[in-house]
Amino acid sequence: MGVMVEVSHLKKTFGSFTAVDDISFSVNKGEVLGFLGPNGAGKSTTMKMITGFLTPDSGTIKVGSDNIADNPVAVKARIGYLPEGAPLYSDMTPITFLHFIAEIRGLRGAEKSRRVAEMIDKVNLGSVVNKPIETLSKGFKRRVGLAQAILHDPEVLILDEPTDGLDPNQKHEVRTLISDMAAEKAIILSTHILEEVNAVCSRAIIIANGRLIADGTPASLEAKSPLHNTVEITIRTAAPDPVNRALEKISSVKSVEKLAAADGCVTFRVYPSGDNSPISDVSHMARDNNWDVENLHVVHGRLDDVFRTITTQQAS
Ligand SMILES: Nc1ncnc2c1ncn2[C@@H]1O[C@H](COP(=O)(O)OP(=O)(O)OP(=O)(O)O)[C@@H](O)[C@H]1O
Ligand SMILES: [Mg+2]
Repeated sequence: MGVMVEVSHLKKTFGSFTAVDDISFSVNKGEVLGFLGPNGAGKSTTMKMITGFLTPDSGTIKVGSDNIADNPVAVKARIGYLPEGAPLYSDMTPITFLHFIAEIRGLRGAEKSRRVAEMIDKVNLGSVVNKPIETLSKGFKRRVGLAQAILHDPEVLILDEPTDGLDPNQKHEVRTLISDMAAEKAIILSTHILEEVNAVCSRAIIIANGRLIADGTPASLEAKSPLHNTVEITIRTAAPDPVNRALEKISSVKSVEKLAAADGCVTFRVYPSGDNSPISDVSHMARDNNWDVENLHVVHGRLDDVFRTITTQQAS
C-alpha cells in the first residue's frame, strides 16, 4: 500500500493567531519525511493534529484508510508519537511506565514483557530502568519517550525532535534505529539539525509562519542553493586577472567571482550558465594552460543556506 498519511488543507488558529495555515502533504510507506522550520513555525502543532491531540479548525487527516475525525481511536492505534519535551507520568520508573503503556496498547502477559524488554534494549535504557523518570537526564527522558512511541510497532511514527538532547553516540543510534524501521513504516520527524535530514530523511518539507514553503528530497532542496553546481578552483598564481578572464570565456560558465588570495594562491568561484556544473570545462582549461591547481571541486549547496534563504525571505 502507498499513502499512509494524507493531510489536506490543515488549519489551526489560537485566538486571532494562525499557527497552521492551509498545510497539505502525504507520506508513503517507506518514506521518512522531515519537518524543518524556524521556532514557532507550526511543526509541533501539525504533529499534534495528526496524532489527535489537537483538533484542527479545518482540513482533513487520513491515516491508512481512517479519517481521524470519524475514527480517532483507530487512527491512534496505528500511530506512535514522541511528543516534544519530557514524557508524562514522571514519578514512574521507565519499566513501570513502559508496562503501563504496553497495557494501554493492548499487550498482555509474556508478549508484553518481551516487547518492553526489547524496547529497553533498543534505546539503551538498561542502566536507568528503576529510577523515577523525573530524576533522569534529558537524553534518557527522550529515550523513554522514544521507547514508548515504538512499543506497539505502529505503522506510522510521528517523532517531534527525536534526537533533541541526546549525546552524539545516541543521536547516531537513534538515527540508525529510525532508518532500520523506515522500510516498514511511514515516519514523520521534526528536526533543527540539517545533517539529520541528509542522514535519515527521504523527503523534507519546510514550514514557516504556518505555511508549507518547500517540499522535496534533500538533494532537490539543496539544489535551490545559489551555490549549487558552482565550481571552486584554487590556483597558485601571481597573476589572477588573466585566469579570471579565461574562466569567464568558457561557454558553460556564467560568471566568475574572485574569493580570496592567500599564500600565493587565489580561489575563484565559477557559476554555471546552465543546469550542469562547468567542472570538466574548467578542469580542461586548467590543464591546457598549465595552471598550478591546488584544489578543484563542485559545490552542491548546503541545506543550511537554502533553509536560511527560504525562511528569511518568507519572514520579510
Ligand atoms: N496552545 C497554544 N496556545 C496558543 N498558541 C500556541 C499554542 N500552541 C502553539 N501555539 C503557537 O503556535 C505557533 C506554532 O507553535 P509550534 O509549537 O507548532 O512551533 P514549532 O514549529 O514546533 O516550533 P519549535 O521549533 O520551537 O518547536 C507558536 O507561535 C506557538 O506559540
Ligand atoms: Mg516544536
